[in-house]
Amino acid sequence: LKVLSVVSEVYPLVKTGGLADVAGALPAALAPHGIELRTVIPGYPAVMAGLEAGEPVHRFDHLFGGPAQLLAGRAGGLDLFVIDAPHLFERPGGPYVGGNGVDWPDNAARFAALGAVASGLGLGLVPGFVPDIVHAHDWQAGLAPAYLHYAGTRRPGTVMTIHNMAFQGQFPAHDFPMLGLPPHAFGLGGVEYYGMVGYLKAGLQLADRITTVSPGYAGEILLPEGGMGLDGLLNARSHVLSGILNGLDEQAWNPAADPLIAAPFDAKAIKGRAANKVALKAAFGLDPDPEALLFGVVSRLSWQKGLDLLADSLGTLLELGAQLVLLGSGDADLAGRFAGAAQAHPGRIGVRLGYDEAVAHQLQAGSDVLIVPSRFEPCGLTQLSALRYGALPLVARVGGLADTVIDVNEMARSAGVGTGVQFSPVTAPALQLALKRTAALWRDKALWKKLQRNAMTTDVSWERAARQYDALFRQLAGERAA
Ligand code: ADP
Ligand code: GLC
Repeated sequence: LKVLSVVSEVYPLVKTGGLADVAGALPAALAPHGIELRTVIPGYPAVMAGLEAGEPVHRFDHLFGGPAQLLAGRAGGLDLFVIDAPHLFERPGGPYVGGNGVDWPDNAARFAALGAVASGLGLGLVPGFVPDIVHAHDWQAGLAPAYLHYAGTRRPGTVMTIHNMAFQGQFPAHDFPMLGLPPHAFGLGGVEYYGMVGYLKAGLQLADRITTVSPGYAGEILLPEGGMGLDGLLNARSHVLSGILNGLDEQAWNPAADPLIAAPFDAKAIKGRAANKVALKAAFGLDPDPEALLFGVVSRLSWQKGLDLLADSLGTLLELGAQLVLLGSGDADLAGRFAGAAQAHPGRIGVRLGYDEAVAHQLQAGSDVLIVPSRFEPCGLTQLSALRYGALPLVARVGGLADTVIDVNEMARSAGVGTGVQFSPVTAPALQLALKRTAALWRDKALWKKLQRNAMTTDVSWERAARQYDALFRQLAGERAA
């Protein structure tokens, strides 16, 4: 079975979050199932630079404002189709925003190009690879199912995967003519969304199947609070909606053979973790104090991640005699609050602002607890690496966090299955109670060891998800062929 993955970021080439991790891991996860997966991605500078022997397989005289070509090649261990369109993608800055943090003004055209090229590939643009399934990720790929839907010829099956409902890709109606879709596509049953063009809405409306990245989130987005305006549409299409829980790239995240951490360890030799805690504290300038409970955070700093609740709870954390290391990038106000706290409490709170892959690994290997207080979380990957690295996750009871962490409540304790701590509602007082509860668990060393072992032996692999995607793709391909 041939699958074309349509995505705007992919690890290890371009990454702003978990979307890249997932897009980067799916090809290897699906290969054992006989799925040949190729990824179509914009030719940002980092992608162009990583491309080995990129071969032109198609030329466009005019692709949303300029000439372009489609290259086929490998980069970062992935089979790629790269959209080499300098007028759209050859610029410094991020995949979505410029250096000033503001969205590129032509994002409507940039990601329409992604959708249109994906659709072209779906319809046989490159005869050597005609996919049975086109798998679109998030709003940036949302037009791919729309273009295919309106192409009106024999087309592959389409799957739209939601990684985050908060980003919907809405553009003014005057961008519609540029898309080259038939006029009737600008309607309720098409790409129109409250008088605008909605890229995610289009994908959700017109794809054959919809998935999201955890069963919990699949439920939450059917409710007004979680649906962010699209719950009505999702309810109408709930018969084709399912949640498939992400896995973790166990090659990239393997504490037994991680070149980025101070000392290797695994579930059978958890003792080896201690050296990582020592190294982490030294790197962040914290007091050595080995008995102090060390909390960690690796996160985008944004409203979604609920880190303002943690900033509001630092008093409690310090009263407990605990310490905190935080690695984060994003919102300047939040960054300022944590930087200020580190300045006020040297030796107890250490903060690193920015994006740093190595520090992310060191923090997972050295902290005792990873805090993820998200207001909503489609899946979340940091709690999965935390499980694997024996940092017990302390998480808000939402979405994929609720699905992946087993709270050490009384029954979990008697059954011996707990892997972390959940809290709810997602408020500062509830988080503070959870910090206290965690500190009490920490004092019981035997219990803590047991919880760590549970965490580290949790199955966070891609295998379950791969089986589910495989079944979904094959069922859909069968339907399309019939
Ligand atoms: P989201 O995609 O919503 O940001 P996820 O938990 O799914 O959240 O994925 C986040 C990914 O980005 C993880 O791989 C995590 O390790 C990484 N990450 C987040 N913030 C940083 C940072 N400041 N430095 C390095 N890696 C980070
Ligand atoms: C999004 C979500 C995150 C999820 C990731 C990968 O970035 O915010 O919860 O883990 O996509 O699916």
